[in-house]
Amino acid sequence: MKILGVETSCDETSAAVVEDGWRILSNVVGSQIDLHRAYGGVVPELASRKHLELIDTIVSQAIARASTRFEEIDAVAGTYGPGLATSLLIGLNAAKGIAFSLAKPFVGINHIEAHLYLPLLIESAERTPRSHAPTLPRSDALFPMVSLIVSGGHTILAYATAIGRHEILGQTVDDAAGEAFDKVAKLLGLGYPGGPEIDRLAKRGNPAAIAFPRSMLDDPSYNFSFSGLKTAVLYLLRKNQPHRTEDVCASFQEAVVDVLVGKLIRAVVEKGVRTASASGGVSINSRFREKLTAECQRRGLKLLLAPAEFCTDNAAMIAALAFYKLQAGPRSEFALEVAPSIGLGVATV
Ligand code: KG4
Ligand code: ZN
Repeated sequence: MKILGVETSCDETSAAVVEDGWRILSNVVGSQIDLHRAYGGVVPELASRKHLELIDTIVSQAIARASTRFEEIDAVAGTYGPGLATSLLIGLNAAKGIAFSLAKPFVGINHIEAHLYLPLLIESAERTPRSHAPTLPRSDALFPMVSLIVSGGHTILAYATAIGRHEILGQTVDDAAGEAFDKVAKLLGLGYPGGPEIDRLAKRGNPAAIAFPRSMLDDPSYNFSFSGLKTAVLYLLRKNQPHRTEDVCASFQEAVVDVLVGKLIRAVVEKGVRTASASGGVSINSRFREKLTAECQRRGLKLLLAPAEFCTDNAAMIAALAFYKLQAGPRSEFALEVAPSIGLGVATV
């Protein structure tokens, strides 16, 4: 079963074709970063206009690169939330329009849920021989798992027992981790998005140079808070004491990573699961990957991390999850509207 996925929730215009929920035939991502860089953040109106301009070409490229034709597509999936309302509208309506014109099922997908399950689906694909299609990938052995979704918009710790069955353990009470990276980069006069820049400079800095707070690390909940850390960087810079930017980056990054890895591992241990997973743009961070990999190896835990291109926003994760949604329940109504501030939600564990 070939599913065309469309994703336009923020500033990436993306379309992908995924077969049977795991075989990624194409994944085209048109990044708008250059358009928004001058403003130091995403400008919703510009993002929406750009999505409209790019969507046809990106969808056609996804079909062509998958060596398929529209007539061979079995269902069409689109992100309905969360995200920027005016951005979501473009991709969701494109997905509905294509599904309607092909007389094929349409599936609305929750963007956060798609991030959550992608590392697992990629791992399952690796475990499933190519000749094995069209049976389901072997994912059962990986459940239950604890998963951290950590991006520019979200920092959520979830517990999942099967694809689409999960509950939220904790989340950020203020800024998302990626948002903290972007805001601190701005304070330091670095480019947008800030995560990759801080990651790069931190490699030449001393992570112990400045003792930034590890907010809520010792709090018994699974919640996170990053706005205090951002303020600590601001106060440090205001003091006018000389600091190497590389050291500020390394120390800030270390503080974020300590909290993310610390809470994820604690949840894995307390929930008694053997699989940890991380997804979203911040999960590309090299120090995060290094520390999390070492912690999981030390404890004999299975770690699921997707390749970088599937950590940031992409339509492959939308098309992949849609396969399972169609297996588990009915198609979505064409009346489904965008839900800009929907959360991950709880699906009975
Ligand atoms: O998943 P994503 O593309 O978008 C959202 O759904 O939010 O994540 C983008 C976020 C940005 O905040 C960006 O700064 C961050 O991911 N990011 C990183 C790195 N690469 C991207 N943060 C830390 N280190 C990185 N290497
Ligand atoms: Zn995302």
